[in-house]
Amino acid sequence: MIHLLILGGTQEASALAKVVADANLRAVLSYAGRVARPARQPIPCRIGGFGGVEGLASYIQTNNITHVVDATHPFATQMSRNAVLACAQTKTPLIALTRPQWKATEADRWRHVPDLEAAAKALQGPAQNVFLAVGRMHLDCFATQPQHRYLLRLVDAPHTPLPLPNATPVIARGPFDRAADRALLQKHAIEIVVAKNAGGDGARAKIDAARDLGLPVLMIDRPDLPQRHQATIPQQVLDWLAHCGTDRGV
Ligand SMILES: NC(=O)c1ccc[n+]([C@@H]2O[C@H](COP(=O)([O-])OP(=O)(O)OC[C@H]3O[C@@H](n4cnc5c(N)ncnc54)[C@H](OP(=O)(O)O)[C@@H]3O)[C@@H](O)[C@H]2O)c1
Repeated sequence: MIHLLILGGTQEASALAKVVADANLRAVLSYAGRVARPARQPIPCRIGGFGGVEGLASYIQTNNITHVVDATHPFATQMSRNAVLACAQTKTPLIALTRPQWKATEADRWRHVPDLEAAAKALQGPAQNVFLAVGRMHLDCFATQPQHRYLLRLVDAPHTPLPLPNATPVIARGPFDRAADRALLQKHAIEIVVAKNAGGDGARAKIDAARDLGLPVLMIDRPDLPQRHQATIPQQVLDWLAHCGTDRGV
Protein backbone atom coordinates (compact mmCIF):
# COMPACT_ATOMS: atom_id res chain seq x y z
CA MET A 1 0.00 0.00 0.00
CA ILE A 2 1.25 3.45 -0.95
CA HIS A 3 2.49 5.71 1.85
CA LEU A 4 3.67 8.95 0.37
CA LEU A 5 6.04 11.47 1.94
CA ILE A 6 5.62 14.95 0.46
CA LEU A 7 8.45 17.38 1.23
CA GLY A 8 6.61 20.67 1.24
CA GLY A 9 6.64 24.31 2.19
CA THR A 10 5.30 25.46 -1.19
CA GLN A 11 1.96 26.09 -2.87
CA GLU A 12 2.73 23.15 -5.18
CA ALA A 13 2.99 20.84 -2.17
CA SER A 14 -0.35 22.11 -0.87
CA ALA A 15 -1.95 21.54 -4.27
CA LEU A 16 -0.56 18.00 -4.31
CA ALA A 17 -1.83 17.38 -0.76
CA LYS A 18 -5.35 18.22 -1.93
CA VAL A 19 -5.13 15.96 -4.99
CA VAL A 20 -3.72 13.12 -2.88
CA ALA A 21 -6.47 13.54 -0.26
CA ASP A 22 -9.14 13.54 -2.98
CA ALA A 23 -7.62 10.30 -4.33
CA ASN A 24 -7.73 8.76 -0.81
CA LEU A 25 -4.03 8.01 -0.84
CA ARG A 26 -2.12 7.65 2.41
CA ALA A 27 0.36 10.51 2.69
CA VAL A 28 2.19 12.80 5.08
CA LEU A 29 3.30 16.34 4.32
CA SER A 30 6.57 17.54 5.82
CA TYR A 31 7.33 21.16 6.73
CA ALA A 32 10.75 22.48 7.72
CA GLY A 33 9.09 24.61 10.41
CA ARG A 34 10.25 27.97 9.07
CA VAL A 35 6.88 29.76 9.27
CA ALA A 36 4.81 30.28 12.41
CA ARG A 37 1.49 29.05 11.02
CA PRO A 38 1.77 26.70 8.05
CA ALA A 39 -1.26 26.46 5.76
CA ARG A 40 -3.91 23.95 6.92
CA GLN A 41 -3.75 20.71 4.99
CA PRO A 42 -6.19 17.87 4.24
CA ILE A 43 -3.54 15.22 5.05
CA PRO A 44 -1.42 14.61 8.19
CA CYS A 45 1.59 16.89 8.61
CA ARG A 46 4.91 16.64 10.41
CA ILE A 47 7.14 19.63 11.20
CA GLY A 48 10.93 19.98 11.52
CA GLY A 49 14.16 18.71 9.98
CA PHE A 50 14.82 14.97 9.74
CA GLY A 51 18.47 15.18 10.76
CA GLY A 52 20.30 15.06 7.43
CA VAL A 53 20.43 12.17 4.97
CA GLU A 54 20.63 9.52 7.70
CA GLY A 55 17.67 11.04 9.56
CA LEU A 56 15.54 11.10 6.42
CA ALA A 57 16.50 7.53 5.51
CA SER A 58 15.57 6.43 9.01
CA TYR A 59 12.23 8.30 8.83
CA ILE A 60 11.45 6.61 5.49
CA GLN A 61 12.15 3.18 6.91
CA THR A 62 10.51 3.65 10.31
CA ASN A 63 7.32 5.01 8.78
CA ASN A 64 7.18 2.57 5.86
CA ILE A 65 7.27 5.38 3.33
CA THR A 66 6.92 3.85 -0.14
CA HIS A 67 7.38 6.96 -2.32
CA VAL A 68 8.80 10.45 -1.81
CA VAL A 69 7.72 13.62 -3.63
CA ASP A 70 10.13 16.51 -3.32
CA ALA A 71 7.80 19.50 -3.64
CA THR A 72 10.15 21.90 -1.86
CA HIS A 73 11.02 25.31 -3.26
CA PRO A 74 13.49 25.15 -6.20
CA PHE A 75 16.03 26.97 -4.00
CA ALA A 76 15.76 24.47 -1.10
CA THR A 77 18.88 22.71 -2.35
CA GLN A 78 19.98 21.00 0.85
CA MET A 79 16.65 19.24 1.37
CA SER A 80 16.50 18.20 -2.28
CA ARG A 81 20.03 16.78 -2.22
CA ASN A 82 19.29 14.94 1.02
CA ALA A 83 16.16 13.45 -0.54
CA VAL A 84 18.10 12.12 -3.54
CA LEU A 85 20.68 10.46 -1.26
CA ALA A 86 18.22 9.08 1.31
CA CYS A 87 15.94 7.67 -1.40
CA ALA A 88 18.91 6.03 -3.13
CA GLN A 89 20.04 4.56 0.19
CA THR A 90 16.58 3.17 1.02
CA LYS A 91 15.67 2.32 -2.60
CA THR A 92 12.60 4.51 -2.37
CA PRO A 93 11.21 5.99 -5.60
CA LEU A 94 11.54 9.78 -5.72
CA ILE A 95 9.96 12.41 -7.93
CA ALA A 96 10.28 16.19 -7.81
CA LEU A 97 7.21 18.36 -8.28
CA THR A 98 8.84 21.46 -9.69
CA ARG A 99 7.47 24.63 -11.20
CA PRO A 100 8.84 25.55 -14.62
CA GLN A 101 11.13 28.52 -14.23
CA TRP A 102 10.19 31.99 -15.43
CA LYS A 103 11.50 33.12 -18.81
CA ALA A 104 12.17 36.75 -19.69
CA THR A 105 10.06 38.35 -22.42
CA GLU A 106 11.31 41.14 -24.67
CA ALA A 107 9.66 43.64 -22.34
CA ASP A 108 11.57 42.40 -19.28
CA ARG A 109 14.75 44.09 -18.04
CA TRP A 110 16.44 41.17 -16.27
CA ARG A 111 20.05 40.90 -15.27
CA HIS A 112 20.86 37.26 -14.44
CA VAL A 113 23.02 36.48 -11.43
CA PRO A 114 24.06 32.97 -10.35
CA ASP A 115 23.38 33.25 -6.61
CA LEU A 116 22.53 35.50 -3.67
CA GLU A 117 26.12 36.67 -3.18
CA ALA A 118 26.30 37.76 -6.80
CA ALA A 119 22.97 39.57 -6.41
CA ALA A 120 24.33 41.49 -3.42
CA LYS A 121 27.51 42.37 -5.35
CA ALA A 122 25.43 43.61 -8.27
CA LEU A 123 23.81 46.13 -5.91
CA GLN A 124 27.11 47.93 -5.30
CA GLY A 125 26.73 51.64 -5.99
CA PRO A 126 24.58 54.59 -4.96
CA ALA A 127 21.57 54.14 -2.69
CA GLN A 128 18.40 52.88 -4.37
CA ASN A 129 14.95 51.73 -3.32
CA VAL A 130 15.20 47.94 -3.64
CA PHE A 131 12.40 45.36 -3.43
CA LEU A 132 14.28 42.43 -1.94
CA ALA A 133 12.02 39.40 -2.41
CA VAL A 134 14.37 36.61 -1.33
CA GLY A 135 12.90 35.48 2.00
CA ARG A 136 13.92 36.16 5.59
CA MET A 137 16.60 33.43 5.70
CA HIS A 138 18.77 35.11 3.10
CA LEU A 139 18.82 38.77 4.12
CA ASP A 140 22.29 38.52 5.69
CA CYS A 141 23.91 38.39 2.24
CA PHE A 142 22.72 41.94 1.56
CA ALA A 143 24.24 43.41 4.73
CA THR A 144 27.28 44.21 2.55
CA GLN A 145 25.12 46.82 0.76
CA PRO A 146 23.61 48.80 3.65
CA GLN A 147 23.26 52.01 1.64
CA HIS A 148 19.95 50.98 0.05
CA ARG A 149 16.41 51.37 1.32
CA TYR A 150 15.02 47.83 1.21
CA LEU A 151 11.39 46.79 0.94
CA LEU A 152 11.02 43.21 2.20
CA ARG A 153 8.09 40.85 1.92
CA LEU A 154 8.04 38.30 4.75
CA VAL A 155 5.59 35.57 5.76
CA ASP A 156 5.98 36.32 9.50
CA ALA A 157 6.79 39.57 11.30
CA PRO A 158 10.49 39.53 12.25
CA HIS A 159 11.13 38.79 15.96
CA THR A 160 14.83 39.63 15.81
CA PRO A 161 16.48 42.77 14.39
CA LEU A 162 16.87 42.68 10.61
CA PRO A 163 20.47 42.63 9.30
CA LEU A 164 19.68 45.62 7.06
CA PRO A 165 19.70 49.10 8.64
CA ASN A 166 17.11 50.64 6.34
CA ALA A 167 14.45 48.01 5.69
CA THR A 168 10.65 48.11 5.60
CA PRO A 169 9.03 44.70 6.05
CA VAL A 170 5.62 43.98 4.52
CA ILE A 171 4.03 40.90 6.07
CA ALA A 172 2.11 38.90 3.49
CA ARG A 173 1.68 35.37 2.19
CA GLY A 174 1.24 34.47 -1.50
CA PRO A 175 -0.25 34.01 -3.98
CA PHE A 176 0.17 37.67 -4.90
CA ASP A 177 -1.72 39.87 -7.32
CA ARG A 178 -0.12 41.75 -10.22
CA ALA A 179 -2.06 45.01 -9.78
CA ALA A 180 -1.47 44.99 -6.01
CA ASP A 181 2.26 44.37 -6.52
CA ARG A 182 2.40 47.18 -9.08
CA ALA A 183 0.79 49.50 -6.50
CA LEU A 184 3.24 48.27 -3.83
CA LEU A 185 6.27 48.99 -6.04
CA GLN A 186 4.91 52.44 -6.89
CA LYS A 187 4.03 53.28 -3.29
CA HIS A 188 7.62 52.58 -2.18
CA ALA A 189 9.17 54.20 -5.30
CA ILE A 190 11.03 50.95 -6.01
CA GLU A 191 13.85 51.28 -8.53
CA ILE A 192 15.01 47.64 -8.76
CA VAL A 193 13.58 44.21 -7.84
CA VAL A 194 15.72 41.32 -6.59
CA ALA A 195 14.06 37.92 -7.04
CA LYS A 196 14.86 34.22 -7.13
CA ASN A 197 13.71 32.45 -10.29
CA ALA A 198 11.14 30.50 -8.30
CA GLY A 199 8.78 29.89 -11.23
CA GLY A 200 5.08 29.18 -10.84
CA ASP A 201 2.19 31.58 -10.51
CA GLY A 202 2.13 32.40 -6.80
CA ALA A 203 5.19 34.66 -6.77
CA ARG A 204 5.30 35.92 -10.34
CA ALA A 205 3.12 38.99 -9.66
CA LYS A 206 6.18 41.06 -8.71
CA ILE A 207 7.92 40.10 -11.96
CA ASP A 208 4.86 41.07 -14.03
CA ALA A 209 4.55 44.29 -12.01
CA ALA A 210 8.23 45.15 -12.60
CA ARG A 211 7.69 44.64 -16.35
CA ASP A 212 4.58 46.84 -16.27
CA LEU A 213 6.60 49.62 -14.63
CA GLY A 214 9.73 49.13 -16.77
CA LEU A 215 11.82 48.30 -13.69
CA PRO A 216 15.04 46.26 -13.81
CA VAL A 217 15.07 42.85 -12.08
CA LEU A 218 18.12 41.14 -10.64
CA MET A 219 17.07 37.55 -11.34
CA ILE A 220 18.86 34.92 -9.27
CA ASP A 221 19.14 31.80 -11.43
CA ARG A 222 18.20 28.38 -10.10
CA PRO A 223 20.80 26.29 -8.33
CA ASP A 224 21.88 22.99 -9.90
CA LEU A 225 20.25 19.88 -8.45
CA PRO A 226 20.91 16.17 -8.99
CA GLN A 227 18.96 14.37 -11.74
CA ARG A 228 15.51 13.22 -10.59
CA HIS A 229 12.19 12.22 -12.10
CA GLN A 230 10.30 15.48 -12.56
CA ALA A 231 6.64 16.45 -12.61
CA THR A 232 5.22 19.93 -13.06
CA ILE A 233 1.59 19.28 -12.04
CA PRO A 234 0.07 17.05 -9.30
CA GLN A 235 -1.67 14.78 -11.84
CA GLN A 236 1.74 13.75 -13.21
CA VAL A 237 2.70 12.66 -9.70
CA LEU A 238 -0.44 10.47 -9.51
CA ASP A 239 0.40 8.98 -12.92
CA TRP A 240 3.95 8.26 -11.71
CA LEU A 241 2.59 6.63 -8.54
CA ALA A 242 0.31 4.43 -10.61
CA HIS A 243 3.20 3.14 -12.70
CA CYS A 244 6.04 3.12 -10.23
CA GLY A 245 6.65 0.13 -7.99
CA THR A 246 9.02 0.04 -5.08
CA ASP A 247 12.10 -2.12 -4.82
CA ARG A 248 11.41 -2.63 -1.13
CA GLY A 249 8.25 -4.60 -1.96
CA VAL A 250 6.03 -2.72 0.48
N1 LIG B 1 14.69 28.52 -0.17
C1 LIG B 1 13.66 29.29 -0.51
O1 LIG B 1 13.82 30.31 -1.21
C2 LIG B 1 12.26 28.93 -0.07
C3 LIG B 1 11.19 29.74 -0.48
C4 LIG B 1 9.89 29.41 -0.08
C5 LIG B 1 9.68 28.29 0.69
N2 LIG B 1 10.73 27.52 1.05
C6 LIG B 1 10.46 26.34 1.88
O2 LIG B 1 11.05 26.55 3.14
C7 LIG B 1 11.58 25.33 3.66
C8 LIG B 1 13.06 25.49 4.00
O3 LIG B 1 13.74 25.91 2.82
P1 LIG B 1 15.33 26.07 2.84
O4 LIG B 1 15.75 26.71 1.58
O5 LIG B 1 15.75 26.63 4.16
O6 LIG B 1 15.73 24.52 2.79
P2 LIG B 1 17.17 23.84 2.68
O7 LIG B 1 18.23 24.86 2.89
O8 LIG B 1 17.22 23.03 1.44
O9 LIG B 1 17.12 22.81 3.89
C9 LIG B 1 17.84 22.99 5.11
C10 LIG B 1 17.33 21.96 6.07
O10 LIG B 1 16.00 22.26 6.48
C11 LIG B 1 15.26 21.06 6.65
N3 LIG B 1 14.14 21.04 5.70
C12 LIG B 1 14.00 21.77 4.56
N4 LIG B 1 12.82 21.52 4.00
C13 LIG B 1 12.19 20.61 4.78
C14 LIG B 1 10.92 19.97 4.72
N5 LIG B 1 10.04 20.23 3.75
N6 LIG B 1 10.64 19.09 5.73
C15 LIG B 1 11.51 18.84 6.73
N7 LIG B 1 12.71 19.43 6.85
C16 LIG B 1 13.04 20.31 5.87
C17 LIG B 1 16.24 19.93 6.41
O11 LIG B 1 16.83 19.64 7.67
P3 LIG B 1 17.42 18.20 8.05
O12 LIG B 1 18.74 18.11 7.33
O13 LIG B 1 17.55 18.24 9.52
O14 LIG B 1 16.44 17.17 7.57
C18 LIG B 1 17.25 20.56 5.48
O15 LIG B 1 18.49 19.92 5.47
C19 LIG B 1 11.32 24.25 2.61
O16 LIG B 1 10.16 23.57 3.01
C20 LIG B 1 11.07 25.05 1.34
O17 LIG B 1 10.19 24.38 0.45
C21 LIG B 1 12.02 27.82 0.72
